[in-house]
Amino acid sequence: MNRVVPVVAVDGPSGVGKGTLCLALSERLRWHLLDSGALYRLVALSALRQRTALDDEATLAGTARRLPVRFEVVPGQGVRIDLDGDDVTRAIREEAVGEAASRVAALPLVRANLLERQRDFRTAPGLIADGRDMGTVVFPDAPLKLFLTASAEVRAKRRAAQLSVPENSATFEKIYSDIISRDQRDASRATAPLKAADDAVVLDTSELGIDDVFEQAIELIAERRLKQFD
Ligand code: DC
Repeated sequence: MNRVVPVVAVDGPSGVGKGTLCLALSERLRWHLLDSGALYRLVALSALRQRTALDDEATLAGTARRLPVRFEVVPGQGVRIDLDGDDVTRAIREEAVGEAASRVAALPLVRANLLERQRDFRTAPGLIADGRDMGTVVFPDAPLKLFLTASAEVRAKRRAAQLSVPENSATFEKIYSDIISRDQRDASRATAPLKAADDAVVLDTSELGIDDVFEQAIELIAERRLKQFD
């Protein structure tokens, strides 16, 4: 691991705005971006396609170790994800894949086999790392750790708005209950549970807009001299 290269670790539950923040930071700083959730989603998608049981830890650990993935930054559009020659950028965002990802992410051997792959993203000039255990496990020496929070209700409303689902519908109730059960699974698993590192700066995005969160992050990056801004 190259400890000289700065990392900003950004952790928190799903729907809290991490993805948007991390993409904006990596574009502003021109640093690399690690979307670690995408790795768990890719293992899950492979498992679903190969009909591997989601608790078959040995097979899934092998899938995680071999994952033939390529991340390609498409300027202005985000990151294109290619799995074994197939563009899966959209497929991995489906709810069923997210649900399966949360299950495979609870398996210690899967996590262990993704560890070095995640650390390999730490290359000059710097890395923005998006996930659940960036500050606690993957980059414990990161010079800046952010932990984003927001109430489950706010996150469900954001997700519903993205999907154009009305807030008083049965679909909204399902989105809300799925968020609660996924939070519980991510926070209660034995290996690398979702929690803020002791030295993380906690930002509640329930009230703050994403622009405010971005400005706060930039201020912290400047204060800690991780990057010089003109
Ligand atoms: O951030 P996301 O929704 O793409 O993550 C998908 C799943 O992967 C989510 O249930 C939590 C899990 N995950 C994890 O356990 N550790 C990470 N560093 C990133 C994601």
